[in-house]
Amino acid sequence: MNASSIRRLEKIARSAAKSSYSPYSQFTVGAAVLADSGKIYAGANVENASFGLCNCAERIAICSAITAGEKKIQCIVVYTPTQAVTPPCGSCRQVINEFGPQARIISVCDSDDRIETTLDALLPGAFGPANLG
Ligand code: THU
Repeated sequence: MNASSIRRLEKIARSAAKSSYSPYSQFTVGAAVLADSGKIYAGANVENASFGLCNCAERIAICSAITAGEKKIQCIVVYTPTQAVTPPCGSCRQVINEFGPQARIISVCDSDDRIETTLDALLPGAFGPANLG
């Protein structure tokens, strides 16, 4: 994956954050996923008055890719309009493991703060499909 593809994903994640529905936390998140086909899927967090039903941007983007027929994701970019980056939450890490255990995981924000990491670093020893035999 070259630098321009990553810049494109970042731009889409930033733009996706504008669609966030986050009246309860006021915490806006955008995500962009690059799938194996080369297509990009965007997502934003969508909250609910029943707080436990809040959906993270990453999972919205991944589910959008999978329901469009994708099987694997290669990269996910998470954007928050903050001064410090936001890493994927634990639930999102587990979902990334399902569809992109080798995916590049990049977090960006409104400062130069940036994380580029892997699932091996974020969720070592993950439970996954292989554990079901
Ligand atoms: N959120 C995400 O969308 N992604 C994360 O990785 C962390 C948290 C959302 C969920 C909720 O709408 C808000 O941020 C505050 O937790």
